[in-house]
Amino acid sequence: MPAVSDRLPVFPWDRLEPYKATAAAHPDGIVDLSVGTPVDPVPPLIQAALSEASDTPGYPTVWGTTELRDALTGWVGRRLGATGVTHRNVLPVVGSKELVASLPTQLGIGPGDRVAFPRLAYPTYEVGARLAGAEPVPYDEPTELDPTGLRLLWLNSPSNPTGRVLGKDELRAAVEWARAHDVLLVSDECYLELGWSADPVSVLHPEISGGSMDGLIAVHSLSKRSNLAGYRAAFAAGDAAVLGELLAVRKHSGLMVPAPVQAATVAALGDDAHVAEQRERYARRRSALREALEAYGLRVEHSEASLYLWSTRDEPCWDTVAALAELGILVAPGDFYGEAGARHVRVAFTATDERVDAAVRRLGY
Ligand SMILES: Cc1ncc(COP(=O)(O)O)c(C=O)c1O
Repeated sequence: MPAVSDRLPVFPWDRLEPYKATAAAHPDGIVDLSVGTPVDPVPPLIQAALSEASDTPGYPTVWGTTELRDALTGWVGRRLGATGVTHRNVLPVVGSKELVASLPTQLGIGPGDRVAFPRLAYPTYEVGARLAGAEPVPYDEPTELDPTGLRLLWLNSPSNPTGRVLGKDELRAAVEWARAHDVLLVSDECYLELGWSADPVSVLHPEISGGSMDGLIAVHSLSKRSNLAGYRAAFAAGDAAVLGELLAVRKHSGLMVPAPVQAATVAALGDDAHVAEQRERYARRRSALREALEAYGLRVEHSEASLYLWSTRDEPCWDTVAALAELGILVAPGDFYGEAGARHVRVAFTATDERVDAAVRRLGY
């Protein structure tokens, strides 16, 4: 049997290893700004909720506890501005990457179908299409796509890797287009709480959705906003018919969020203070790194939100990666996110203050 992994793109991070070794040889150690993984503590109130729920011998449900569903619907209404959100409009998932990779398969999308995603994008949209045996279709402008055979349209605002935020007009146009062509629109909004010079809006906001969740799903994650990447806490919200179908499939697949993580998610969504605190940390790191990168000669584009500075020296991205590795700084080459990123690097500001300050000094600022 042909291996399923043969359908998938080459795992690109291995190509970064030699540069990682160069950066690690710096006498003051590597500053790793390549992977956007949180480094700050899990907020104490979330840790407490997790440990208080540690005595849970029974199976959790895929649907989640009533408390979790209340927390999800409450947050979607309060933070995203969506109206009329019921328990049928939300579904917990085991981290959003799991959902992104499995969504096309779980919706019965397969050979002969097409799945579209931004030309420069988080690689898992393509992986999900390929796992399903569907055709991956990168786009520059969603409303210019050929709708033939198109079953799923991914949006990602704020974007990984560019930090670009789609404006209300762009979101409305995409929603209108998807509905007109009967294409499910799934909006990955996992950086929504991390807007800096723009205020990201959800597709579920009535100004975008027209007050109906028909044909729309928003994907949210607690990994970044609450430093919970290690917990695997995320959820989908939107069209009840689509989420009901997913629930049915996921029940058979045993895709349950562990009970302690469900309890931790309730605590995390009920508290805005830790999100504000974490934003403060990132805001400081972002502006320190941005000034230093610009002084060093990089131009930062987009990056109005998310955890990344999308930067270029107008040269092949691997040259920039190599130059920064010599300074002991590791960044991600833009071509990991599509050929269109071949002259950019993605600089994550998810390092400790101490490491960010070290990078700033090394950049000569
Ligand atoms: C755009 C985007 N979507 C989804 C994810 C997955 O996040 P998680 O699986 O931690 O929820 C990431 C992680 O970096 C991401 O950048």
